[in-house]
Amino acid sequence: MLKSEQGTAALAIVYLNGRYIPEASATVSVLDRGFIFGDGVYEVIPVFGSHILRFSEHLARLGNSLAGIYLDNPHAEAEWRDIVATLLERNPGAENRSVYLQVTRGAGERGHVPSKALLPTVFAMCNPIPERDYTRGVSAITHEDIRWQYCNIKVTSLLPNVLLRHRAKERDGSTEAILLRGDRVTEGAASNVFVVHGRRVATPPKDHSLLPGITRDLVVDLLRGAKLGCEEAKITRADLVSADELWITSSMMGIAPVTRLDGRPVGQGQPGAVWREADAIYQAFKVKGVGGAAPN
Ligand code: PDD
Repeated sequence: MLKSEQGTAALAIVYLNGRYIPEASATVSVLDRGFIFGDGVYEVIPVFGSHILRFSEHLARLGNSLAGIYLDNPHAEAEWRDIVATLLERNPGAENRSVYLQVTRGAGERGHVPSKALLPTVFAMCNPIPERDYTRGVSAITHEDIRWQYCNIKVTSLLPNVLLRHRAKERDGSTEAILLRGDRVTEGAASNVFVVHGRRVATPPKDHSLLPGITRDLVVDLLRGAKLGCEEAKITRADLVSADELWITSSMMGIAPVTRLDGRPVGQGQPGAVWREADAIYQAFKVKGVGGAAPN
């Protein structure tokens, strides 16, 4: 259900295989490989006012994820743009919204080897992005990265990520689990990680161990454009522990300052000066959308 601005429940309209229908009547087969195997990929695209943030980049990543699981892209870019625009039109209300796109391999007899004859299931929905209050920052835990080797693909099989966020919440009400492979930080369970020492900002380089976050890339670009700079470099546990500031980024959270890690304060234990600078630049960009490739 999408809550309208008046607080009354409006019927959410979703997209399913070519149709725009009320969420309650959107159903897929129990044999869908998304349901049986988690055999699918997805995207979450943030929309601020009428600005679809980094739309082309999100669609390009969807294409890469589909290629990564040997699935043909069911839609040309113009068709995806049309689906997103129509969905936004049919779900007015919130100022800031996210569009969720999902493609699964479709429904067919259960078998590990996927049949090439299946019709993919294409689903999309729109949700409000909740307002965030980062005055006190958020807390995180560190955890071994228990996921697989293809974390650059945005797959719907998110059980490890779900368990990691559950553990973070259970441990001390933390928002995020920051993941390490050995001594190397990869990313968060649903975010990318930045560390700040003095005014030096760094984030792990992109490889198969992390999702190429669209917000991450945007923040790197914005910091470089603002002459603050951002290095893409290996980050160790020691770097995390000694950081003056820690940030996590995602389409849903923007840039969130992590002020407690494993129960201890990060730096001064409050959102830092470099975060304030970076966030101001990001906030201005996300609504203004300079270079954001909005279709409207
Ligand atoms: N997840 N890393 C992981 C594992 C993620 O799941 C996400 C985002 C990110 C940040 O990517 P982006 O900046 O493109 O949102 C990094 C989305 C929001 C989700 O699963 O809901």
